[in-house]
Amino acid sequence: MKKFVCHIKDLKDHQSYGFQIPLEEGELDIVVLRQGKQIRAYLNHCPHLGIPLNWQPDKFLSLEETHIQCSTHGALFTLEEGYCISGPCRGQSLTALQTEINDGELYLVSQQ
Ligand code: FES
Repeated sequence: MKKFVCHIKDLKDHQSYGFQIPLEEGELDIVVLRQGKQIRAYLNHCPHLGIPLNWQPDKFLSLEETHIQCSTHGALFTLEEGYCISGPCRGQSLTALQTEINDGELYLVSQQ
């Protein structure tokens, strides 16, 4: 399955974005990060309580922009792997999503 997410030009460097991707049933809540040419996507689902990571739209990063930070209890996840290095779900990971870029557009190519 391949789902359009956004245009690459709309993703600023060192920023994070939340998207709701419509599925046949419901939608997938995801977070997309850009670091230069690297674009990564994870499910917006904290492994601690299974709730969204953010309170405010498109606010997923720590103050220093070095990690993804859960707004509820402050768990910190690496940008590269979504691995939790600090907080109540330390040692657990966000669910990484497979993406593909075609003609300047970002697509999700799998649901999980
Ligand atoms: S819900 Fe994310 S750290 Fe507790």
